[in-house]
Amino acid sequence: MGQYDRHVFVCTSGETCPEQGDTEKYVRTLRAAVQKAGRQRDIRVNKAGCFSQCGHGPMIVVYPEDVWYAGVTETDLDEIIASHIIGGAPVERLRYAPGVSGANKIDVETKEAPAPAAAPPPSWKRVCRTADVDVDGMKEFAVDGTSMLIVRTADACFAYQAMCPHEAIPLEAGVCDGSVVTCLEHMWQFDVRTGAPMGDAEKGLTGFPVKDEQGELHVMLGGAKA
Ligand code: FES
Repeated sequence: MGQYDRHVFVCTSGETCPEQGDTEKYVRTLRAAVQKAGRQRDIRVNKAGCFSQCGHGPMIVVYPEDVWYAGVTETDLDEIIASHIIGGAPVERLRYAPGVSGANKIDVETKEAPAPAAAPPPSWKRVCRTADVDVDGMKEFAVDGTSMLIVRTADACFAYQAMCPHEAIPLEAGVCDGSVVTCLEHMWQFDVRTGAPMGDAEKGLTGFPVKDEQGELHVMLGGAKA
């Protein structure tokens, strides 16, 4: 048995996988699921460089089973998580078996890149009742597919990215003392009011404009603060 029951590698910096899907988001999704299942001590999700299988991506490899997945879409992740990463049963329909060992790159240069989708205009979206978050507390919400952390102090509320910018661990699992948010994974800290990095933290939090209307919190999506 290795250091981990299951060790997952997602190609995030190969030549084509990051072009074929938002593989950084895949890592965040997988880590959040592992955290939610309380398995972060025995399941590890790592970003990886090129597997030399360019064109078959996005690719994920899971050990100790040595199972390779190709063409993984965001909608496949839940099944991979539940069936294999947590459950131990590989998802056969997504398995990659080129029949030839070693590099199996496809020339994808000639494929026409899809036109980028137009970004929706910024708009206010309801998140929750203000009272849903305790004073000096914080809670994660999903708003139109965007996960965010609402932090409440005695006199204001703030909205930030839900995941720690260090290794995409949910900040909700950390602590807030009313002035500082601390991620307990490696103790990065952030100013509650600005999201600015404190102590050992090397990056701050991306925030969203927030307004409280009659006890209902709204955030502006598409208008993220720096
Ligand atoms: S993941 Fe948050 S401090 Fe390392």
